[in-house]
Amino acid sequence: MPIGDMRTLLGAHRAVGAFNFIQLEVAEAIVDGAERAGCGVVLQLSQNAVAFHGGLAPSASAALRLAEAARVPVVVHLDHATEEDLIDEAIALGVPSVMYDGAHLPDAENLARTASIVDRAHRAGVWVEAELGEVGGKGAHAPGVRTDVDDAAAFVAATGVDALAVAVGSEHAMLERSARLDEGLVAALAGRLPVPLVLHGSSGVPDDGIVGAVRAGMRKVNVGTHLNVVLTGVIRAELDRDPEVVDPRRYLRPARDAVAAEVERLLRVISLESP
Ligand code: G3H
Ligand code: ZN
Repeated sequence: MPIGDMRTLLGAHRAVGAFNFIQLEVAEAIVDGAERAGCGVVLQLSQNAVAFHGGLAPSASAALRLAEAARVPVVVHLDHATEEDLIDEAIALGVPSVMYDGAHLPDAENLARTASIVDRAHRAGVWVEAELGEVGGKGAHAPGVRTDVDDAAAFVAATGVDALAVAVGSEHAMLERSARLDEGLVAALAGRLPVPLVLHGSSGVPDDGIVGAVRAGMRKVNVGTHLNVVLTGVIRAELDRDPEVVDPRRYLRPARDAVAAEVERLLRVISLESP
């Protein structure tokens, strides 16, 4: 299947699941899970994951080839990029969607840089997600932080972004699924903004919170840490079960299967197929 694009994927789904991978086996599991669920998916690689590998091309190329081989639409997305050179490299490699994360910058600088990236990304036909700045020195995705509707509308109008990451009560890297989202704010943002909303830090959001957010208008649901919890839990159990094991396939195969099953399950939740 041709590599997916975000506009088409969002057009075909009420909400889409976007899953972060670091290593190949998780990328394979994300595609496998999407095929089992029978729906499209976003395969995300963050700037942090790129730094772990020491470069973008090997992992991004693998993701693009997985997307081409998939039986469902797969959009490859560069996530949380703060370095403009990395975004340019992703565009040159054929990555169809990028997130520019200028949340650490002063608002005016974030807006100017985001607008400039949107301009050159759009000339290459690439989708751009962005986010507003930090509030009160905290990360943009922290329990007490909320996106202001007027600020968000002005940011979208001034930058021309295609999608906006919003702060509605989730937090990155939570190990427990206990975050409560502000569904009223999601609905207010969805009613006002002309672009799809993106939920970051969805690992910390329970299934009913994801369903509520999607019903209120959330369109892209980002999950990273939760898949690492699943993967590492199975690997730890396998190594405990057989302390003599040395072939990584012995523990990566069941771990990859478990991640695929969880991606399938979460995609059904995000698609509102199951509560
Ligand atoms: O951009 C990626 C997501 O926000 C993942 O966050 O690792 O907390 O699920 P998470
Ligand atoms: Zn995020």
